[in-house]
Amino acid sequence: MSVVSAKRMLVEAVTGGYAVGAFNVTNVLQMQAVMETAIARQAPVIIQTSVSPTKFLTPEVIVAVFRALAEPAPVPACLHLDHCTDAAFAKRCAELGYTNVMFDGSQLGFEENVRATRDVVEHCHRVGDVTVEGELGTVSGVEDQVRVAESAAELCDPERSREFVERSGVDLFAPAIGTAHGVYLTENPKIDFDRFAQIQQKVNGRVVVAPLIVHGGTGLKPDVVRRLVALGGAKFNVSTDLKHALIDATYDYIATHRTEYNPGKIDTAAKAAVAQRVNYWIDLLGCAGQAQRGGADGA
Ligand code: 13P
Repeated sequence: MSVVSAKRMLVEAVTGGYAVGAFNVTNVLQMQAVMETAIARQAPVIIQTSVSPTKFLTPEVIVAVFRALAEPAPVPACLHLDHCTDAAFAKRCAELGYTNVMFDGSQLGFEENVRATRDVVEHCHRVGDVTVEGELGTVSGVEDQVRVAESAAELCDPERSREFVERSGVDLFAPAIGTAHGVYLTENPKIDFDRFAQIQQKVNGRVVVAPLIVHGGTGLKPDVVRRLVALGGAKFNVSTDLKHALIDATYDYIATHRTEYNPGKIDTAAKAAVAQRVNYWIDLLGCAGQAQRGGADGA
């Protein structure tokens, strides 16, 4: 089971009525916290890295750690490169062992987004069972190197969604529907559920062609998440939530143990805090106990 194709995993999620958590990590401790929690909850899981931490740790190290954790694990797992605007780097990560890459052409014009995404798709499919996520419309906020002001964010046009998926050949599709990266600036962000439903109908109406991805998981209210799952949201990206858990727990531990010099204890506190958030998301997305159907070969 263990390392699987993201598309297979997410088609299973859509047909099973649940979604999978895709957790952005920046270090080994977070990777362990995510994987150990997924195993404890028997949940399929996606570990993802943005471009900066991928370059900092190096894709080789991330792939090696991911494989050491995921291959013996009794749950399906994927390693995803998030929001990569550099086609050459996305292709390199696919060659080095990422199972899924996101080429983010959302800030390009429609035709250029289709062309550049298609080029990455063709390469990844030649490399092997590497799937590709593409985005249409722009998600506001800051995610690593991708910054979009709220005023410049553009929602995905449902009429063009099917065309984008067909012409680019993407395996997973991230439409902008009003969610945002980072902490939400308003109490009730305006999420366009109708648009999301229309896109799901156009792209995956008869058969699931490209499962829909929801960016900007952090801070979404539970009822919003459940509604998006019910409408076909298959993968929920969560980044800021885990960063806050890691940093707050580290800070709190050091603040209350100022004269202790034991990094293992700091790491233990930080890991527990990250695991708690991963547990929260697994419960909310309904993927606990879905490991057996979560994309395993033959599922
Ligand atoms: P958040 O940081 O808002 O959780 O968004 C994560 C994300 O969408 C990564 O692609």
